[in-house]
Amino acid sequence: MKELEISRIPQLSFEVTEALNQLRINLGFCGDQIKTIMVTSSVPNEGKSFIAMQLWRMMAEVGTPSLLIDCDFRNSEMRRKYGLHSADKEKLLGAAHYLAGKTDVQNIIYKTNIPNGYMIPVTTAIVNPTILLESANFARMLDYCKEHFAYILVDTPPLASVADALNIARYCDGSVLVVRSGDTPRKVVDNSVQMLRRTDTPLLGLVLNRADVSGRSSVYYHRYYRSGYYYKGSRYGYGYGGSHTRDTGKTTDNGGK
Ligand SMILES: Nc1ncnc2c1ncn2[C@@H]1O[C@H](COP(=O)(O)OP(=O)(O)OP(=O)(O)O)[C@@H](O)[C@H]1O
Ligand SMILES: [Mg+2]
Repeated sequence: MKELEISRIPQLSFEVTEALNQLRINLGFCGDQIKTIMVTSSVPNEGKSFIAMQLWRMMAEVGTPSLLIDCDFRNSEMRRKYGLHSADKEKLLGAAHYLAGKTDVQNIIYKTNIPNGYMIPVTTAIVNPTILLESANFARMLDYCKEHFAYILVDTPPLASVADALNIARYCDGSVLVVRSGDTPRKVVDNSVQMLRRTDTPLLGLVLNRADVSGRSSVYYHRYYRSGYYYKGSRYGYGYGGSHTRDTGKTTDNGGK
C-alpha cells in the first residue's frame, strides 16, 4: 500500500480532545452497522474538515483501522492545510481517479503516518463532480472500504452551497452536522436537518463547534454535559448537541478562513 505523510498535525487542547473523545465514544454506541459517517455542515467554514480529520485521527489512535475520505472535490483544503504528500514522491491519486475509471480502488487508499489511519485524498479540484458522485463506482468504493476498515469518515462540502453532500449521504450509514457556535443562524441549521432527514440517512448528532464555554454559559454546559443530557446525538432526529469543541487559542490550528 502506498504511503501518505501528514506533515502538519494540529496539537489540540485538553478540552477539544475530551469533547472529540466523547463524540467518538458516542458514535461507537450507535451500533456496529454505523461504519460510514459523513461529516457536513450548513455553510462553509464551520469546521467540517477539522472535525472529520480529528475524529478520524482519534479513532485510529485508539487502534481502530479508520479511513478518511476527502469528498470535498470542488474546494478541498486538506492537502495544503495539513501538508499531505506522498511518502514515496509518487503522484498522488484521489477518489476522482477511481470514480472516473482511471485506476483501481486499492491505488487511491493511502496508509498515513497516523497509526491505523488511512486516507483517500483529493488531489485536484473538480468543477462539477456530480456525475462522479452519482456513478455506481461511488457505492462500490464505499463497499470496498467498509470491508477493510472499522470506520470511514467522509468529509463533504456544505449543504447550502451544492448538492454534493446530499448525494453522498445516500451512501453513508449516518451523518454528523457541524454547527459553528454563535455564527450559523438557527433557521439555517433547521433547514440542514430537514435536508438530511429527507435522505433517510440518520443524523447521528450535532457538533457545536468553537463554542465559547468560558463565560456563564459554561456552568450550564458543564451541568448538562456531566449529567449526560447534553449529548442527544439521536439517530431519529434533531439532537440538541453532539459535542462541544472549544477554540481556546491553544490549538495551533485556529487559522479561520
Ligand atoms: N474546534 C476548532 N478549533 C480550532 N480551529 C478550528 C476548529 N474548528 C475549525 N477550526 C479552523 O477553522 C478553519 C475552518 O475549518 P474547516 O476548514 O475545517 O471548515 P470547513 O467547514 O471544512 O470549511 P469548508 O466549508 O471551506 O470546507 C480552519 O482553519 C480550521 O483549522
Ligand atoms: Mg472543509
